[in-house]
Amino acid sequence: MKKIIVANWKMQLGIKESLLLAKQFSQKIKSVKNEVVICPDYLALAFIGPILKKTKLILGAQDCAQENSGAYTGEVSASNLKSLGVKYVILGHSERREHLHENSAIINKKIKSALENKLIPILCIGEKLTEKQSGETKSYLLDELRRALKGIKIKNTTELIIAYEPIWAISSNKNAKAMLPTEANEIHDFIKAQTKRILNKEVAVLYGGSTTASNAQEFLTQENISGLLVGGASLKLSEFIKMTS
Ligand code: PGA
Repeated sequence: MKKIIVANWKMQLGIKESLLLAKQFSQKIKSVKNEVVICPDYLALAFIGPILKKTKLILGAQDCAQENSGAYTGEVSASNLKSLGVKYVILGHSERREHLHENSAIINKKIKSALENKLIPILCIGEKLTEKQSGETKSYLLDELRRALKGIKIKNTTELIIAYEPIWAISSNKNAKAMLPTEANEIHDFIKAQTKRILNKEVAVLYGGSTTASNAQEFLTQENISGLLVGGASLKLSEFIKMTS
């Protein structure tokens, strides 16, 4: 089955570097058996869209505004992203929750705006090390799901995606290491079941956190893992190509 592999470039590249990497991916990734999504920063999006258009690679964004338009200095609307050819939008990433104080109410509004504009939200959820250590992972995840998905309705299973990213496993964090793929599979099973109870639809659940070319296959072959959200490794040309093929 087709997996979804999402490159989250975060704020790691300059415009020139982003363009170069997008061009290199476009040339190297000829036929993809998986859905490969590239999420550059806002500024690079407009330049990268036309490059990806000629390929099978898909354009994604790392965030969108809560509102559709108006006096919201510095914000970028889901409708503007849509007009640039964006298909997916990452929402509620733990870095935004931490550094920009995004809470579930804000994330919920962003999901609604993305859906209204026919973008596919990739809702990120994940526990911190403290919750993991106190055995509260599942109750924490359920709480995040319930709050972020409050009042959300989708007609098709493909309209929304969840990305499970245990915060302690994200490579930019101290002592980060990937979760065991079998352990992740078990949590994905839980997330799928709970999302189905909330949305009445079974949606894809991606894993994110220190994935590399050497562990990607082990995650991708797990029954409940529909794909990967890749940070650090998505910036490395040959490594990411290996992960997508
Ligand atoms: P990582 O990041 O692959 O570098 O751990 C994942 C993410 O933050 O989306």
